[in-house]
Amino acid sequence: MDNITVGFAVCGSFCTHAKAMTALEQVRARWQNVIPIVSECTAETDTRFGKAHDLMREMERICDHRVIASVKAAEPIGPQHLLDLLIICPCTGNTLGKLASGVTDSSVTMAAKAHLRNGRPLLIAPSTNDGLSGSAASIGALLNRKYIYFVPFGQDDPAKKPTSLVADFSQVADAAQAALEGQQLQPLLLRT
Ligand SMILES: Cc1cc2nc3c(=O)[nH]c(=O)nc-3n(C[C@H](O)[C@H](O)[C@H](O)COP(=O)(O)O)c2cc1C
Repeated sequence: MDNITVGFAVCGSFCTHAKAMTALEQVRARWQNVIPIVSECTAETDTRFGKAHDLMREMERICDHRVIASVKAAEPIGPQHLLDLLIICPCTGNTLGKLASGVTDSSVTMAAKAHLRNGRPLLIAPSTNDGLSGSAASIGALLNRKYIYFVPFGQDDPAKKPTSLVADFSQVADAAQAALEGQQLQPLLLRT
């Protein structure tokens, strides 16, 4: 799989960043060339879940590649055909909404737009408390889009967070393999 280059973009669902790093390790174990990308929010925000600098350093260690963290740095992904697959893991409600609406004002949405123009697969691992409310329309729109695939997702806490959806991060590498083959990994909807 040495000729495959994968982009791995992280958005500001901070509570899932630890699981996302495990998924990134698994992706890197499968494909030699993995380019790390972070949203500006992720690059700038320290939270109770960790420091932004530490996360980016960890991504650079895993990938052995500098992090892309701006619209300007993400733009060459299009003209240079840099990626065979782009993974957004985790993908926030904010970024889902932008992707569904054609808004390109962040490093991650720029990476997605640049990559999709080349007709190559985009894999989304959603993580948002409003997946079954405010972001439901975005997810629905993206499910119906060419070249877009999802990491299987489900409700993470139906009793306490009835509208929350989160991807199964342990399936990211398998979903990536399927997306590279033009397939949606099934079952897409997970039972709680
Ligand atoms: C501690 C913390 C945790 C958050 N967790 C989530 C989350 O799990 N899912 C989500 O959609 N947004 C979450 N947010 C909100 C996003 O970070 C916010 O919408 C941000 O604008 C996302 O930007 P991005 O999509 O460019 O990364 C969280 C914010 C904070 C401060």
